[in-house]
Amino acid sequence: MIENKWKQDFPQLNGDFYYFDSAATSLKPEIVINSVNYYNRELSSNINRGMYDKSQKATELYEESRKTIAKFINAKNDEIIFTRGTTASLNFVASAYGLTNLTADDEILTSELEHHSSVLPWINVASKTKAKLKYIELEKPGKITIEAFKKAITNKTKVVAINYVSNVMGYIVPIKEIVEIAHKHNAIVIVDGAQAVQHIPVDVKALDVDFFAFSGHKMLGPTGIGVLYGKQELLEKIKPIEFGGDMTIDVEKNSFGWKVSPTKFEAGTMPIAGAIGLKTAVDYLTNIGIDKVSEYTKDLYNYFLNQVEMIKGLIIYNPNSDANIFTFNLENVPSHDAISFFAEKNIALRAGQHCAKLIHDYLNINASLRGTIYIYNTYEEIDFLVETIKEAIDYFKKLGF
Ligand code: ALA
Repeated sequence: MIENKWKQDFPQLNGDFYYFDSAATSLKPEIVINSVNYYNRELSSNINRGMYDKSQKATELYEESRKTIAKFINAKNDEIIFTRGTTASLNFVASAYGLTNLTADDEILTSELEHHSSVLPWINVASKTKAKLKYIELEKPGKITIEAFKKAITNKTKVVAINYVSNVMGYIVPIKEIVEIAHKHNAIVIVDGAQAVQHIPVDVKALDVDFFAFSGHKMLGPTGIGVLYGKQELLEKIKPIEFGGDMTIDVEKNSFGWKVSPTKFEAGTMPIAGAIGLKTAVDYLTNIGIDKVSEYTKDLYNYFLNQVEMIKGLIIYNPNSDANIFTFNLENVPSHDAISFFAEKNIALRAGQHCAKLIHDYLNINASLRGTIYIYNTYEEIDFLVETIKEAIDYFKKLGF
């Protein structure tokens, strides 16, 4: 067993509360809360606009955040665009790149494993441009393989929109190989990294991805801040889709121009407190080391799996998940009935389709329960969760489910 040194950093865990819903959003360490508070209490001012000290300092911290994030994923500073979150990042690429570049002769390749944010924008692009939307055939129990990807890609494929780690199955998609094949077909690859950055080291240059999106709030940062990485040459080519303050130059009555990336994509007042908080979150994770995070959470996950594998009446849909996500149902019990039993015990899980209906259709189920293990969870918490799962099975059995 590896000692947990991090739980104490999370003020929300100061009592009888068992948080296993980190794939929905992570908890925030005190240090992140403090940095957001610092901006709001001491530094509230707009960035890139004021000549006074506080505004200059806020601008400095905002740009420091960009640098920290660029370093975290091995990008150049100007390749990092701040957004509202993964959803905004992926919608932006679909609108700014997809709607402009695709035609009825083109194909978009995606998968049933996608979160709605990674697939709905492309359903929209396909319906507007008449490009064909195709799905990679999944291998049981719900994995994307290189073989299936090779079968699905054609010379008409212009865009591959795919997750790095599924928010339901937790399997790591072989992105590097997929990008290599996609580029041979002259397709670009847009990666939903929302469930990846907090679990595995990400190097966008080594992966050679064209776009990579993630959210602050799933990696110990604040809500309302997200990131879009884009290759510089692509960002130079695409046009902004939001127009307003700070991004523009040469405004006339009937025309205007825009600055270079990333400023041209950051119209209006940005989530400054969010960016500052996200820098602190990334520093916190970097100080621990993502490898260490993976090692600890994997150990906890295996500890959990060893105890639940043989439980009768428990169906786990994604055995050996790579990102400590466990998606399950209690036999014959609707997930929303089951979740209330866990909620009564102060155990936070998620029930439903987790914004990923297509993978539920693939699994032939309406809904599921989902738990995630992260650095603030402990072996004792896992013991309590396992005991509660057993109690829940008995409870619903007695009720006749
Ligand atoms: N995308 C988040 C989830 O998977 C909300 O739960």
